[in-house]
Amino acid sequence: MTEVKKILITDTTLRDAHQSLMATRMRTEDMLPIAEKMDNVGFYSLEVWGGATFDTCMRFLDEDPWERLRKLRQRIKKTKLQMLLRGQNLLGYRHYADDVVENFIAKVIANGIDIIRIFDALNDIRNMEKAMFYTKREGGHVQATISYTISPLHDNNHFIEMGKRLEEMGADSICIKDMAGLLSPYNVYILIKELKDKISIPLQLHCHCTSGMAPLAYLKAIEAGVDVLDTATSSLAMGTSQPPTDSIVASLKGTPYDTGLDLEQLSEISDYFKEVRKKYDIPLEAALGVDTNVLSYQIPGGMISNLAAQLAQQNASHLLAETLKEVPRVRADLGYPPLVTPSSQLVGSQAVVNVLLGERYKMVSTEIKNYIRGLYGKPPGEINPELREKILQGSEPVTCRPADLLEPQMEKARSEIEEYMEKEEDLLSYILFPQVALNFFKRRQGLIPELKEEEEKKAEEVKVKSNLDLSAIYRVDSSLLSDEDDDEEVWDIVYPT
Ligand code: CO
Repeated sequence: MTEVKKILITDTTLRDAHQSLMATRMRTEDMLPIAEKMDNVGFYSLEVWGGATFDTCMRFLDEDPWERLRKLRQRIKKTKLQMLLRGQNLLGYRHYADDVVENFIAKVIANGIDIIRIFDALNDIRNMEKAMFYTKREGGHVQATISYTISPLHDNNHFIEMGKRLEEMGADSICIKDMAGLLSPYNVYILIKELKDKISIPLQLHCHCTSGMAPLAYLKAIEAGVDVLDTATSSLAMGTSQPPTDSIVASLKGTPYDTGLDLEQLSEISDYFKEVRKKYDIPLEAALGVDTNVLSYQIPGGMISNLAAQLAQQNASHLLAETLKEVPRVRADLGYPPLVTPSSQLVGSQAVVNVLLGERYKMVSTEIKNYIRGLYGKPPGEINPELREKILQGSEPVTCRPADLLEPQMEKARSEIEEYMEKEEDLLSYILFPQVALNFFKRRQGLIPELKEEEEKKAEEVKVKSNLDLSAIYRVDSSLLSDEDDDEEVWDIVYPT
């Protein structure tokens, strides 16, 4: 018999929901007025930081992400604050040295985060070790994460073994992270039931509604004994976001699983975000609705709109369908990595290039090369031998933990950025996103024009670009990838080749 108990709720509205539905553009000023009300609901935790929010704050909103965290912490006094961390990639797109991981986590916790959800895009546990260690050392709650995916190589046993290992490594709880909404209700039931049998720490489930199955999966997960569910306020739920908090709470009312949360309070919060959403001019067509095709291309919520934007910029929107078909092929060539940042961007951008050039792997990004060299960790399966040979040319990929190859980064970076630093956290912002942070610091000091003027200038530049500009693919949104000839942001890689 599964023990029947009250379900706990993590509300993701201030992080994943707007990352999924509003391109991560919600401003701090729209979060603060409702923060206290959210604190009073009685959520298990509020996910408010990490993922893409860090980068977006500086790059698009001219905001300091650290400042956002502090302001939220001042207003949210009772509820635990939670963040999403990409293991050794922290909040960036490549691996950082251990001294950066250590300092970053210390600052995150000092600024108010209680729970750190730690994952690795390849489910390579070695890339999670240091982040888990330092989170524990700083007194934080380690939520170690299984990135769920479907492939010929991944079955429930694989995830259950991973869960057991994460518990042995000292995790305080386990999260199953279903980025693209792939978990079907009956499979999640089996997975959670078996996992709960094997581990003794709490189990949390994170699904996106992309395929339409998430609310059904949640119900079966509850019956299987899940402890905590991730949901978002109803006005920022569904589509590529999480299931609605309000509906889950209402569904469980009066049952042994009753969350005990007050629907009236939740409704006021939802009304607030309904208004907030109107302030942002972000088309929702791609993000809302249901798309079961995601079960094959497996692209996480926010990534589909990125692909569409990359193609539109190349006047190649008509190639979107072909690109979505190329994504699973590239993923298979790379040994079936789960698609989550940064592997989703690597695979997605390479698929765009393959389709645009009409020849597969005619051009290969530095990131894909590094992936094949083993510098993101161990891929789940074999790399396509032809592609492997083309990149490695007879040499062997590295097999150690990739960050073991990285020299400490903190002090070198400090000497580069000292004159712009106003606080120690600025150094970490700079190491994660050198160019973006530097521009942010310069704007802060009034040394360069404000973001708005700069954006307009950039928009003009884009207009006069030629039809097929490959470098733009690597720079669109979050400079997802950097081209080999683009020396911006490559200074910190000391990978051997
Ligand atoms: Co998510």
